[in-house]
Amino acid sequence: MADLVLPELAPLHAWFDAYCASFRSDDPELQRNFDLKEIHTRKVCEAARLIAGDEDPRRLMLAETAALCHDLGRFPQFREYRTFKDSDSVNHAQLSAEILTQRPLLDFLAKSERQAVITAVRLHNVFQIRAGLEPQTDDLLRIVRDADKVDIWRVFIEYYNAPQAERASGAGLGFADLPVCSPAVLAALASGELVQLSSLETLNDFKLLQLSWLYDINFRSTLRLIKERGVLEQLAATLPKEGPVLEALSSVFGYLERRLSAV
Ligand SMILES: [Fe+2]
Repeated sequence: MADLVLPELAPLHAWFDAYCASFRSDDPELQRNFDLKEIHTRKVCEAARLIAGDEDPRRLMLAETAALCHDLGRFPQFREYRTFKDSDSVNHAQLSAEILTQRPLLDFLAKSERQAVITAVRLHNVFQIRAGLEPQTDDLLRIVRDADKVDIWRVFIEYYNAPQAERASGAGLGFADLPVCSPAVLAALASGELVQLSSLETLNDFKLLQLSWLYDINFRSTLRLIKERGVLEQLAATLPKEGPVLEALSSVFGYLERRLSAV
C-alpha cells in the first residue's frame, strides 16, 4: 500500500511534481534544501497512509491530500528567506494554506472536505491543537501532525549521522552543536512534557525537544510505526550517555511502552 498513488490523487501528485520542478535551482545549496522538503513531503504522504490505514478509503485519501499539501509553503519560504525557521521568516503552514486557497487544486473534494484539508494544513505546526475543531478537521490534523513528526525524525536522524559537509543548511535551525543538554529541557522531557522551542540552547536540546514530540502523538498506529522504525533508539544514540540524559530517555521509552500496552 505504501508506494501506491491513489488514482483520484494522481492529478494532485502531478501538480506537486511540477510545483517542485518550478523551484529547481542551479545553486546546489538551495536545491539541497528543496530536495529535503520534496522527499519529506513524499515520506509524510507514506506515513499518513500508514497511520490512517485502509479501513476508511475516503479518510485515507483525505489524509494523503493533506500530507501532500502540508509543506507547500516551505519552498517559497526557503527561496525567499534561506531558512526553515518560521520565527525568522514566515509561518510556513499558513503560507501552505494560502497557496492552496489561491489555486483550484482541491476542487475534486466536497466543500467541507476541502475546508478540512486546508485547516489541517494551516494548523499542522501549532504548539497545541485547539478545542472545537470540526471532527473531520481535527482527525486530519492529527494524522498530518503524527505523519510529519515520524518523517521529521527520519530527516534529523539522517542529519545527525551525516558528515557536516553533507548536511542541508536549513535543517539544523542554527543551534550550536555543543556537548551540553540544558537542565530545564531534560526536566521537561523527564516529566512527560512537550519541550518549548523557546527553552532551547543547544542542538542536543533540540534533539530532546524532538524526543518530547512522542508525548504529542495521537494514534496507536503511529506509536507502532515509531517502535518498528526504532526512532527513539536512533535519536537516543546521538545524545551524550550521561545520568540525567539517560533518566530523561527512560521516561520517553517508558511512555511509548505504556501507551502501546494500554487497552
Ligand atoms: Fe510543516
